[in-house]
Amino acid sequence: MKKKTEVFRRNYLKKRCFGEFGGRYVPELLIQALDDLEACYLQAKTDSHFQRELKSVLQSYGGRPTPLLFAKNLSEELTELRESRKSSALRKQRKQPLKIYIKNEGILHTGAHKLNNVLGQALLCMRMGKRELVAETGAGQHGLAVASVAAKFKLAAKIFMGEEDYFRQYPNVYAMKNLGAKVIMVSDGTRRLKDAVNAAMKYWIENLKTTHYLLGSALGPFPYPLLVRDFQSVIGVEAKKQLKQAEGRLPDLLCACVGGGSNSLGFFTPFLSDAKVAMLGIEAGGKSMKLGEHASRMKEPKLGIVQGYKSYFIQNADGQVQPTHSISAGLDYPGIAPELAYLHQQGRVKFLSASDKEALEGFRKLSEKEGISPALECAHVIGKLPVIIQRYPEASFICVNISGRGDKDIFITAKHLDKDAWREFLKRELRSLR
Ligand SMILES: Cc1ncc(COP(=O)(O)O)c(C=O)c1O
Repeated sequence: MKKKTEVFRRNYLKKRCFGEFGGRYVPELLIQALDDLEACYLQAKTDSHFQRELKSVLQSYGGRPTPLLFAKNLSEELTELRESRKSSALRKQRKQPLKIYIKNEGILHTGAHKLNNVLGQALLCMRMGKRELVAETGAGQHGLAVASVAAKFKLAAKIFMGEEDYFRQYPNVYAMKNLGAKVIMVSDGTRRLKDAVNAAMKYWIENLKTTHYLLGSALGPFPYPLLVRDFQSVIGVEAKKQLKQAEGRLPDLLCACVGGGSNSLGFFTPFLSDAKVAMLGIEAGGKSMKLGEHASRMKEPKLGIVQGYKSYFIQNADGQVQPTHSISAGLDYPGIAPELAYLHQQGRVKFLSASDKEALEGFRKLSEKEGISPALECAHVIGKLPVIIQRYPEASFICVNISGRGDKDIFITAKHLDKDAWREFLKRELRSLR
């Protein structure tokens, strides 16, 4: 398995594809900039000075390593649930306790895993002699990390955000502006993450000499899927060590939410050659499985080429990308990381989707049981755990990546979970503005 993974990696570098996925489908104008980025990254990868600098800022600015927590109360509840579902004959056998661990990226500075990739790419930007960052953001966590790092390294930052996301994640918009970034609302198309990516790319094409496009997920044209995955792999490297220390063995199952795919790939990658570790990605099931009401690309995977890369996209029979929906802006995107599409095709990573309702349930559950309020993106995984433990009856040791914390979602969760009190609060706030 290890050897197969390495051969595949070498091929990826040569062909710039993961199997049939990935590639570089961009206008001629962008080729030189992507070549420069690729050369810069491959040099930096083997440059001990760069690696030391990255490690140092991840620790001193980011707060790494992030903790691994045994979610005792959640584990007990799910053990009971699993027991209660057993037939009476099986129930007589010895109870097998479930152990759920949480890798908590919400502890990272700026509140989500996005900072890992942003610090890496910001160092690349300066190495290329560029002084401006341009980025897209959905949930605002990537934008917040870009704005913060830009302030720290004295870089200019322009952040594009779909109108829909701009308002539903306004706490992050405010924070980005306060950090000195220019936040540009995108009112084209479906006014979500896909449209923000288009606008950011357009700006980049017009300003290639001075600007680095700091893409926030493991997608887009090569080399982005490679370098974003590598910068995020610090999550899995740490988790592997921490899990071994905690239990003396590797887990049976890893679970992570999947928007573009950066937190899941960062978490999974260091375990890929450990054949006994199963991997599960959770997509946004939204309101229903009707087109336009979810963002589950893997439900009926359809190959396409969009925004510079080949992967699975939510599209109609004519190949037109279709609108998506998710309660969490970070999962509300029609495409998926080409490497995840490949790993799915190989059967290495499986997928399930969790609905908006399950995500809210997950948010409440982790808050109440463990005192951790997760971002709505990874709350999808917690909300799906009752189904996951049924699908994986042999798994007794599970680790979930909590990709971020839930502060940014206050306007969404409060509206759903505490509506009347929230309305009163907003009314008072409005009155105080008069
Ligand atoms: C907290 C959090 N988790 C997950 C995601 C999804 O992105 P990815 O799949 O690239 O990790 C986002 C995206 O904004 C996010 O903010």
